[in-house]
Amino acid sequence: MKPKLIIAATGLDGLIGSRINTLLKNDFEFINIPESSMDITDKDKVNEIIGETNFDIFLHLAAYTDVDSAESKQEVVWKINVDGTKNIFEAVEEKGKKMVFISTGFVFDGEHPPYYEDSTRNPISFYGKTKYEGEKIVEGRGMIIRLDYPYGGKVSYKKDIVESIVSGLKQGKEIKGIIDQYFTPTLIDDVAYAVKYLFSNFSPKIFHIVGADSLTGYDIIHTICKVYGFNKDLIGKTTYSEFYKDKALRPKNSILKSKGNHFYTMKSFEEGLLYLKKMLSHI
Ligand SMILES: NC(=O)c1ccc[n+]([C@@H]2O[C@H](COP(=O)([O-])OP(=O)(O)OC[C@H]3O[C@@H](n4cnc5c(N)ncnc54)[C@H](OP(=O)(O)O)[C@@H]3O)[C@@H](O)[C@H]2O)c1
Repeated sequence: MKPKLIIAATGLDGLIGSRINTLLKNDFEFINIPESSMDITDKDKVNEIIGETNFDIFLHLAAYTDVDSAESKQEVVWKINVDGTKNIFEAVEEKGKKMVFISTGFVFDGEHPPYYEDSTRNPISFYGKTKYEGEKIVEGRGMIIRLDYPYGGKVSYKKDIVESIVSGLKQGKEIKGIIDQYFTPTLIDDVAYAVKYLFSNFSPKIFHIVGADSLTGYDIIHTICKVYGFNKDLIGKTTYSEFYKDKALRPKNSILKSKGNHFYTMKSFEEGLLYLKKMLSHI
């Protein structure tokens, strides 16, 4: 039997990482390196820990991910998302190992959809800017996986797009759907299974691992109500400019497609919700 690939990872306790760890733990040997044992902004610590760790691939998930607060905490965000990524990548390269960097559709401006792996990047938020800088560090030598609006994970400190809507609907609140912004919601379990293939078939390219369809926020809420049986009278309407009045800008047409994913069939949003309903008793 072939020995299992060893995957060392940052951010493995996060929204996406925790599902990857749970679903792939029998396929790979994961070494979880949490912030408490390695702050990625501490270059010496990164060199020390990565230097002494034995692994085949380094999965770099850790990031400052709060898009709104990132606008007012730019120095901290840059240190984590840009300097931290550089620290990790240099230490991984020093060992002659492979790196997988998780990025986002927020590297695009949302004005020229659809977006493929080789589309022009032009981030409109500070968070997106730092992820773009991270991509530039890794590009051509490491693998970059872009995700968009991942859902179907569970962490105590934040809610994904589906959970936020579901928790409002459960309380009988009116939920306003954005009628003029498109999202490409991506089931995290699909991400994990696609990543399983990519670990075993590494190439230093960019991959969009994204849901099969793109919907407006309004349609997302409709689909959630349809699948989970919530009252559609609770669905209100809002617009992009109203919703993001006091928030960081998001790409208005976050419509991501893939030229590179010929190996795993991603689910549509409705299929993803049905999967969660069946497999995980999500609500
Ligand atoms: N969630 C999304 O909507 C989304 C969309 C597209 C792409 N992504 C990308 O996917 C990746 C994972 O996102 P996520 O939502 O799963 O993240 P998350 O739940 O916010 O978790 C972020 C992780 O980063 C770690 N971290 C933060 N600062 C650190 C530091 N200074 N040193 C070491 N570790 C640090 C945290 O580790 P501790 O728990 O140990 O503190 C935490 O586990 C990120 O790179 C993000 O940019 C996310």
